[in-house]
Amino acid sequence: MVRYGVIGCGNISKFHFHALKKLGAAVTYAADINEEAARERSAGTGAKITADYNELIGSPDVDVVVILANGSIHKDAAMKAIARGKGVICEKTMMNNSADAAEVARAAQKAGVLFFTSYMKRFFPAAEKAKELMEKLGHVFSATVRSYQAWGNFYTPEHGWDLDGVLRVYGGAIVKCAASHMLDMTLYLLGRPKSVYASVDFYPDTKFDRKATALFEYEDGMVASFETAAHPLKKIGYERNSWDEFIEINGTDGRMKLSTVMWDHPENNAALLTFYDNETETETEYRFDAMNPFDAEIAYFNHCFETGEKGAPNEKDGFAVDALIETIFLSAEQKKSIPVDWRGIDV
Ligand SMILES: NC(=O)c1ccc[n+]([C@@H]2O[C@H](COP(=O)([O-])OP(=O)(O)OC[C@H]3O[C@@H](n4cnc5c(N)ncnc54)[C@H](O)[C@@H]3O)[C@@H](O)[C@H]2O)c1
Repeated sequence: MVRYGVIGCGNISKFHFHALKKLGAAVTYAADINEEAARERSAGTGAKITADYNELIGSPDVDVVVILANGSIHKDAAMKAIARGKGVICEKTMMNNSADAAEVARAAQKAGVLFFTSYMKRFFPAAEKAKELMEKLGHVFSATVRSYQAWGNFYTPEHGWDLDGVLRVYGGAIVKCAASHMLDMTLYLLGRPKSVYASVDFYPDTKFDRKATALFEYEDGMVASFETAAHPLKKIGYERNSWDEFIEINGTDGRMKLSTVMWDHPENNAALLTFYDNETETETEYRFDAMNPFDAEIAYFNHCFETGEKGAPNEKDGFAVDALIETIFLSAEQKKSIPVDWRGIDV
């Protein structure tokens, strides 16, 4: 049985612990600088508790290190786990910049360890179906990607958020926290663009990105248009609940639209997929049971660790999102189209 050590027992760890417990997996260590948080979160697992994640990584009782703490520690924890030949599950975004992500990806590959990045929205059945239906679109010529989340009104000083706190934990705001999932979905369904032309809007006098717009330019002339925003609109989106996130892809044989749902309310909603077939001139709506994508993701990663199967989203996928994000900010800063530097990390 694979034994897990979890670093970081804050918000997102709730979903990882739920999935690990559901699976009946062994959680042997939990680390958090707030030991009480680690104790509470891991209750019932029998995990040892520590404030020092080095102790967890060094323990012979841990086979896989699960990194769920602030972005700033992802690299150190990942490199140390890899150096000890341990498997890694790392929350997104994988690293705080693309050079670090490339370094970690190379280290994982050289050590031959399995490394997964937690882009759990790929595990919505609707997303898996979308991947399967890609080949039915014919020649893909355009796409639109949106990630709008109701964080509040960031066009007034009364937003009530600790902007520095967000930047401290996540290393960025709307692009990293919200849109990174749809950037991963774009890469998953459409592959890697050659260049990016972007505009990023920050909350005044801060590095808190509240809105970003970009064109992803592909080798064959295909262009995906992307936008993300923190917004105050309460009843927009396919479920009229403020969550407005989708990817729409147009091909010569049809159009597909995948609308995702609030990731932390998975028990209430299911992602929706529609497919328009140009031959029959009909649209099919694919409806699925609501499910928790974290449960599916962790069950799949566990299967990979048990069998040695090289699955995804892995270190290359985590790196690719980090590279795309970096290029969005670079393009916005330089106000021109910038080629994405894939740093020799292949698909
Ligand atoms: N997949 C998703 O949809 C999703 C959603 C939210 C957050 N995340 C990611 O999960 C990670 C954590 O985010 P969160 O929202 O849970 O943040 P959080 O602030 O709620 O939790 C982070 C935890 O890490 C602990 N921590 C900080 N430094 C530490 C250290 N040196 N050693 C051990 N523990 C330490 C903190 O005490 C805290 O309990 C981030 O990388 C974030 O981007 C992913």
